[in-house]
Amino acid sequence: MKAVVLPAFGDPSQLELRNVSDPSAGPGELKVRMSGASINPVDWKLRSGALQGRMPLELPAILGRDCAGTVLELGKEVSGFKVGDRVMGLVNRGYAELVVAGVDAWAHVPPNLELVDAGALPLVLLTGSQLVEEATKPRAGDALLVTGALGSVGRVAVFAAKALGAKVWAGVRGKQKSEAAKLGADAVVALDDEAEVAALPELDCVADTVGGETIQKLLSKVKRGGTIGSVVGEPPGAKERGLVVHPMLAHPDSKRLAELGRAVAEGRLTLPIAKKLPLAAAAEAHRLAEKGGIGGKIVLVGAS
Ligand SMILES: NC(=O)c1ccc[n+]([C@@H]2O[C@H](COP(=O)([O-])OP(=O)(O)OC[C@H]3O[C@@H](n4cnc5c(N)ncnc54)[C@H](OP(=O)(O)O)[C@@H]3O)[C@@H](O)[C@H]2O)c1
Repeated sequence: MKAVVLPAFGDPSQLELRNVSDPSAGPGELKVRMSGASINPVDWKLRSGALQGRMPLELPAILGRDCAGTVLELGKEVSGFKVGDRVMGLVNRGYAELVVAGVDAWAHVPPNLELVDAGALPLVLLTGSQLVEEATKPRAGDALLVTGALGSVGRVAVFAAKALGAKVWAGVRGKQKSEAAKLGADAVVALDDEAEVAALPELDCVADTVGGETIQKLLSKVKRGGTIGSVVGEPPGAKERGLVVHPMLAHPDSKRLAELGRAVAEGRLTLPIAKKLPLAAAAEAHRLAEKGGIGGKIVLVGAS
C-alpha cells in the first residue's frame, strides 16, 4: 500500500509518500480502506520532534490520529461490523491507504455523511466532548468558558457544554467574533480584548483548548474551587489559586463517536472542512494547517 512516511523529524518536507507493506487485522481488529484522514495539530507537533519528551515516536513513522473508510477485513473475535461497512475511527497511522485498529476505535458513519468528510471527525469529536463531559464536568446552569471556541475541538466543546445545560461563553480572537456568534453559545468574548475579559462574570469552569497566556489571563475569573479542563496541559499557577485542574488525553469511545457523528450528519454540530488534498500532498497539508487561521480541518483523500 501507499502511506505517508516520516523518516526523520523536521519540517513538512520530511513527509514522503512511499510503498510499504500492507497491515493485516489481528484478533479484535478491523482493517479499513481509508477514504479520508485528517490533519490534527498533534501531527505537526510529532513531525517536528517537539513532543519527543512526552510522546516518544519511533521512526520511520506513519502519522495520523483519525480516518474514515470501508471495512476490508475483520480480525478474529470481531462483532458489530462486517466487510463493506462505512466506519470512522480514532486510530494511529491514519495517513495510509489501509488502516488497522482495534474494534473499540471504530464507529459507523451515518448514511448521509460523505466518507471523506467523516475522516475529519473522530479525534476532534472525542476530544471536545471528553474535555467537557469527563474533564470539566459542568452542572446545568454553570458558567463555562471555552477557549479557542471556533477551533475544531472548541466547537465540539461548546456543543457538549450546551447539551449539559451550561451557560457557555465562546472565547475567540476579536476578529472572529461575528463568526463565533453562529456557534450557539450564550455569549462570545474576545480573549485578546482586556476590557472584555475584565467584564466577564465569575466563571465556574473553563474548557481550555488554547493554553499559554490565554488561559493565564482567565485564571482570576474562575471562582475558587472551580475547574479548568484542558487538552493542552496543566496551566501553571492554577492549582495555587485553589482551582481544580483536569488535563486530559482523548481516548476511544465508539458509542459517543457514533452519537456525535449523527449530530454532524443532522446539522446540529458544524465542523467546517477547509481543504481536501490527496494523500501525496501531506507535506502541503501540514504547511497549511500549521500556519493556522484556515477556518477548518484539512482532510487527506484516499480511496473513493
Ligand atoms: N489532549 C488531547 O487529547 C488533544 C486532542 C486533540 C487536540 N488537542 C490539542 O487541542 C488544541 C486545539 O486543537 P484543534 O484541533 O481544535 O485545533 P484548531 O482547529 O486549529 O483550533 C484552534 C483554535 O484556537 C484558536 N486560537 C489559537 N490561539 C488563540 C488565542 N490566543 N486566542 C483565541 N483563540 C485562539 C485558533 O484560532 P486561529 O485559527 O485564528 O489561530 C483556532 O480557532 C491543539 O493544541 C491540539 O494539539 C489535544
